[in-house]
Amino acid sequence: MKKNILFVDDEKQILRAVNRLFMDSKYTVFMADNGEDALNILEKENIDMLISDMRMPGMDGYQLLKAVKEEFPSVIRIILSGYAEGEVVFKSFRQNLAKLYLFKPWDNSQLMSIIDRVFETEKVLKDKNLLSIVSNLEELPTISDTYNRFCSLIDIDADVREFSALIEEDPSIAAKVLHYANSAFFGAKTGSISQAIMYMGLDNIKNIVLTATVFDRMNSREKLLNLREELWEHACLCNKAVILLHEKLLGKRLPEIYASAGLLHDIGRIVFISNFPEGYSRLIKTIDTDKSKSFVDVETEAFSVSHQEMGGYLLDWWELPLPIVEAALYHHSPGLDKILNKELVSIVHIADYFVWELMGTNSMNSLDIDVMDNLNISMAECRKIVRNIYKGL
Ligand SMILES: [Fe+2]
Ligand SMILES: [Fe+2]
Repeated sequence: MKKNILFVDDEKQILRAVNRLFMDSKYTVFMADNGEDALNILEKENIDMLISDMRMPGMDGYQLLKAVKEEFPSVIRIILSGYAEGEVVFKSFRQNLAKLYLFKPWDNSQLMSIIDRVFETEKVLKDKNLLSIVSNLEELPTISDTYNRFCSLIDIDADVREFSALIEEDPSIAAKVLHYANSAFFGAKTGSISQAIMYMGLDNIKNIVLTATVFDRMNSREKLLNLREELWEHACLCNKAVILLHEKLLGKRLPEIYASAGLLHDIGRIVFISNFPEGYSRLIKTIDTDKSKSFVDVETEAFSVSHQEMGGYLLDWWELPLPIVEAALYHHSPGLDKILNKELVSIVHIADYFVWELMGTNSMNSLDIDVMDNLNISMAECRKIVRNIYKGL
């Protein structure tokens, strides 16, 4: 069945260009030049994806995305906007109003291939097998109240004291924030949450709050507690490695909104640990004795999905940006064509491999040498970067 895409832009010539581009495509395109009309179309038609401009007279893109998230939550929301609208786009991302941000003017073939890939990943996440596993889980972590309150404080530009008060309400989150801040990577020598916030910035802290609550809230049997601790350490190290590798290899800072890709990439394993403690313990033993299969293959044989799909599903359900979802969903298969943000997925792949290596855990993951070649980095360089971070913890 043809997918339906709704474009919203107040500039008629943009809509005409879109119309020409999609004339003979595999998609059916609907168009609206204002937010109110867009909502009317959504009411009548079965729209799969909304691609909206931000700056529009009357209802602007921000208000429209907010309304669509509430009233038509299954519609994939994408922003297509100019560079100048950075602030409002950022605000939309902070509230998880859009999956992706595309810039104008666009390249026709690129736009089409981006849309194709977004739908392909959507297909992976809506796979029947995955959905049936997920719907039978006893426990799927919801976004915590602390995290939601933290985001609301960001939106009202709250005072540092209000943020620290919120974090201090939960001693285990407070401990994780301080642990992260006191590592040599940030260099803070402090026992104060307020100082940690000033050192690391709100976005970093927000990501730690999000991840820490998942790690802490999920039940875990005694014998898997060690594994959970190990995964937390792995996540922290990977996050730092991803940030450093991104700067080194691509010569630019990892955008703040993607800065938790490393922290969250293995979140699917936490879901397995808490829902299938017995099965997962058995699986770890199998891996220790039989080294002939990859970790992902062993997981897939046992549970019919791997921690990649499980994690990708969870992060998508939380409506995190697509690049973060992709980092979880594809970090052991970074060469796939359907990946949109290849650079980020590749860097998470590399960080994951070398961090496990350094932690001395046989992760059974293989390293994709093509990814190393594409990014033009050697094994020795990766080891050096990761080792320096490790020293700092
Ligand atoms: Fe993994
Ligand atoms: Fe990992």
